[in-house]
Amino acid sequence: MGKVIAIASQKGGVGKTTTAINLSACLSVKGKKVLVIDSDPQGSLSFGLGIRRNGEKIKGLYEFYTNRASFEEVVIECIDNLFVIPTRIDLFMAELEIFETNEREKKLRLLLEKYKDDFDYIFIDCPPSFSFLTLCALVASDSVIIPVQCEQFALEALRIFIKLLWRIKGNFNEFLELEGILLTMFSKHLIMSRTIAEDIRRVFRSKTFESVIPRNVALAESSINGIPAIFYAPEAAGSIAYKELAEEFLTKNSLVPEELSQQASK
Ligand SMILES: Nc1ncnc2c1ncn2[C@@H]1O[C@H](COP(=O)(O)OP(=O)(O)O)[C@@H](O)[C@H]1O
Ligand SMILES: [Mg+2]
Repeated sequence: MGKVIAIASQKGGVGKTTTAINLSACLSVKGKKVLVIDSDPQGSLSFGLGIRRNGEKIKGLYEFYTNRASFEEVVIECIDNLFVIPTRIDLFMAELEIFETNEREKKLRLLLEKYKDDFDYIFIDCPPSFSFLTLCALVASDSVIIPVQCEQFALEALRIFIKLLWRIKGNFNEFLELEGILLTMFSKHLIMSRTIAEDIRRVFRSKTFESVIPRNVALAESSINGIPAIFYAPEAAGSIAYKELAEEFLTKNSLVPEELSQQASK
């Protein structure tokens, strides 16, 4: 049974796209069949996975959302086991077009239903806002990963986002769970980074991933070059951290519900 996971936060620049690219790539290297959907009109995920336009008009999430192209027409296999639905700026238009239709917030959920079980995991990279595209992604998802950059006001922003999640769970998607909070761009030499990480762990104990993503330039460079970090710089601290995150994610997802609740009560 495929699992759909949104990578979301209302804040920009916290590592959503970097996490979507590198967690999916690490899982695909481990033999999992993964689809990653670029649901941010800025298209950074598509760019980070090496999908360049070269003048030709590639079809993507906009065409899929608006029934202008089939799933098969928009999916690209970028490395073995890793598939992507790319995006261009015109995804902004999808918001307006879908808004006119019935059951609009369920649109992505309904579109993915048929394909969900063809993959082990489907990740949705969300835009940095509480937009309609974010709502559609959260309605289509089983769980959410929230990347948090260890900087000032991170805890306040996280609390606001989690409140929104529970509202969406109450009103639109009762099955939505919090997969985990991921500490990103962590600088162990900065007192603020350490203090904020401790505060978040204190408040959201069992919901914060043990794995922490350090600030590491190889992650930024690999995105610019359109190659996931495990291929671009396999020994870099950022690549190792995402490999650890993939292990942790897989372990968590292989636990049966009783084991999970035991883990949560620790
Ligand atoms: N752990 C990290 N270390 C260094 N740079 C990072 C790290 N994570 C992300 N970046 C860089 O920071 C910028 C914002 O990250 P991104 O993943 O695009 O955030 P978001 O999708 O939340 O807006 C990008 O330029 C990215 O390459
Ligand atoms: Mg992004």
